[in-house]
Amino acid sequence: MTAQGIILRYISFFEARGHKRIPNSPLVPENDPTTLFTSAGMQPLVPYLLGEHHPEGKKLTNVQNCFRAQDIDEIGDNHHNTFFRMLGNWSLGDYFKKEEIPWLWEFLTEELKLPKDKLYITIFSGYKDIGYDKEAQDLWKKVFEKENLEPKIFVDETNWWSRSGPPDNMPAGEPGGPDTEVYFRFDDLEHNSNCGGDDPAKCKCGKFLEIANSVFIQYKKTDSGIEELSQKNVDFGGGLERLLAAVENNSDIFQTSLFAPIIKSIEEVSNKEYSANQESMRIIADHFTAATFIANAKIKPSNKEQGYILRRLIRRGLDNSYKLGGAHSTSSGQANIEPVLQAIANQYDQTDPEIKQNFVEIKNTIIEEEQGYKGTLNEAKKLIAKRYKLGDELKGVTEITADDAFLLYTTHGLSPTQIRSLGFTFDGLDFADKMEEHQKVSRAGAGKKFAGGLADTSEATIMGHTATHLMHQAIRDILG
Ligand code: GLY
Repeated sequence: MTAQGIILRYISFFEARGHKRIPNSPLVPENDPTTLFTSAGMQPLVPYLLGEHHPEGKKLTNVQNCFRAQDIDEIGDNHHNTFFRMLGNWSLGDYFKKEEIPWLWEFLTEELKLPKDKLYITIFSGYKDIGYDKEAQDLWKKVFEKENLEPKIFVDETNWWSRSGPPDNMPAGEPGGPDTEVYFRFDDLEHNSNCGGDDPAKCKCGKFLEIANSVFIQYKKTDSGIEELSQKNVDFGGGLERLLAAVENNSDIFQTSLFAPIIKSIEEVSNKEYSANQESMRIIADHFTAATFIANAKIKPSNKEQGYILRRLIRRGLDNSYKLGGAHSTSSGQANIEPVLQAIANQYDQTDPEIKQNFVEIKNTIIEEEQGYKGTLNEAKKLIAKRYKLGDELKGVTEITADDAFLLYTTHGLSPTQIRSLGFTFDGLDFADKMEEHQKVSRAGAGKKFAGGLADTSEATIMGHTATHLMHQAIRDILG
């Protein structure tokens, strides 16, 4: 079953249960200054979850293109991506847990035919006056009993979902609630020492992958705490790329039928093998896919907001392309990314045909950014060469002061990794101190924006100004 096949089955499953399909909202939200990108299927539905009447009724379904900027630094493992598609079904004050939980099980096991013994469940452990989710636990127990299976249900404090993460982080007016999550077990992987055995919520190695969650949005944050909403809602989110990994029983989402042809194109242009270059190739595949969709939304690389994120994706994708080297670089020293972009357009053609229609514009946006980036790198090299009287050709590695490295960061937008890749070393801790100082100033003027996330990736939840994000990355970069 392909990604497209999963979408079709999902939509018809919920249409047959009285849901109306609603369109995929734009990736860059219109008229919503609180957020840079659509990062969850529920995002355009917030007013209706809070009680407004939706013109299509109380039972809705769709597949939503999403981008999560806060996951940029996670990319490189076997299961994170910044751009992904989320399957969604919603009850706006209509059905609740007793319908949703059996439907979810039926969809996963009967429609997608996932092996029942590989599915693990987590439920919410409670918060202040809100007790643990016994109702969901009882419903899941019934599901397992009916199947004659030992219940695999774990209680976890992180099973609360809102766009801002846990209840304490939610701003007044924000809806949220406890969620139940479904994890898939991959038998080819063994847990590493950071994992908590067979408790899926504690697993960090990818052996247990969260493939779906149902949020029971029945609360709203107010100035005095958490209050019941006037209606009880369901907000289901299923990550399509992860569901495909489960269907294909492949613990590496970049080796599923969706991403494998994109990885293959990177192998071909670089003349390198995926098995020896997984992290770089995953970053290239993810970042250029996300960049393609953001460029398709008519965003141009720049130093602020969506344009900044696009710039960061393209430049980080290029850094990794240069690292692979070989045939991946053209004779002019540029990365040969067109075949990779073409492979991306092919893979999304059935669901997002406008990527092929707008291909030339998308490609030009990315290639023009590479030209600008090359110019920036050259200027940075020249500036340092002049200050240190190094002559025209930089030879070997040159030690520079943290002040000068920081200057390259503030004037040229280069991260510590990019500065090091030019052949310069500097005192990382000193640089980190300067970053933190700068961050304090930047935070003071930062606007607050929602980041949102599937429960396992929504740790930070309120994302400040994009520059703050770069600084976090830069500090992580330095401290290793
Ligand atoms: N259904 C909530 C989310 O993961 O976006």
